[in-house]
Amino acid sequence: MQVIRSITELKEKIRQVKQWGQTIGLVPTMGYLHEGHLSLVKGARDDCDFVVVSIYVNPIQFGVGEDFEEYPRDLTRDARLCEEENVDIIFSPSDSDMYPKGYATFVDVEILTEGLCGRNRPGHFRGVTTVVTKLFNLVEPDKAYFGQKDAQQALVLRKMSEDLNMNLELVIMPTVREPDGLAMSTRNHYLSEKEREAGLALYRSLTRAEELIEQGLRKSQEVISAVEQLINQEPLVEIEYVEIVDTKEMERLEELRGEILIALAVKIGKTRLIDNVIVEV
Ligand code: PAF
Repeated sequence: MQVIRSITELKEKIRQVKQWGQTIGLVPTMGYLHEGHLSLVKGARDDCDFVVVSIYVNPIQFGVGEDFEEYPRDLTRDARLCEEENVDIIFSPSDSDMYPKGYATFVDVEILTEGLCGRNRPGHFRGVTTVVTKLFNLVEPDKAYFGQKDAQQALVLRKMSEDLNMNLELVIMPTVREPDGLAMSTRNHYLSEKEREAGLALYRSLTRAEELIEQGLRKSQEVISAVEQLINQEPLVEIEYVEIVDTKEMERLEELRGEILIALAVKIGKTRLIDNVIVEV
């Protein structure tokens, strides 16, 4: 496995891989890898000849006062984990390579980025779509892998790749959870023991929502209230949003019908966590 830091070196390597006629799988990450990331890497390894994992804490997707500085970074640990999964290349560029002085070009997906996380994190998705476009241009993957945990991100990236006629397939892999149900996230590392315990309310409430729908509840607001009520039992958890939307346009639903996304974001102390489930009604 090679760890490549420079864009020039990466481009040369990709040129060779293309010449060999190999298919390329890309797993974009911000590093500090966990089992969720590794499930994406395994997917790419199964599907593609050549696997690239990008590790880059992208400054332009963090808002003012967010955790860009604190975001954990450990390339040595990540490299060991990638090596174990037979990754071919880790691409870990510098900020000055990705956004040199005078950088002025951004990619913006409209409408889908306005609700859910977009409402509270202005500019976040613009940062994501811009860096992912750059990574796609650099790595030229046949397939790129993202997690369902970031449901809105997955949808926004799919829209971007369709609208801009990008020549690749997006693969969205299921959320990986801890045995007690907490969705894997790098940000779980910020949680104290008590906060982590409180965080279990997220999945518990989503599971309750699934049960209620299974029992025949069809009014979105009633399901949302049940979820909020369960979460509010945990004084450490502050709800940012609980919403039920359709999985295509991300439009709020009043009556539950078809494939729906129940998505939520909370703050536990300083840590912002998201989770979601997709339900077929
Ligand atoms: O999901 C993430 O970790 C990031 O948003 C991504 C897709 C790697 C872009 O920086």
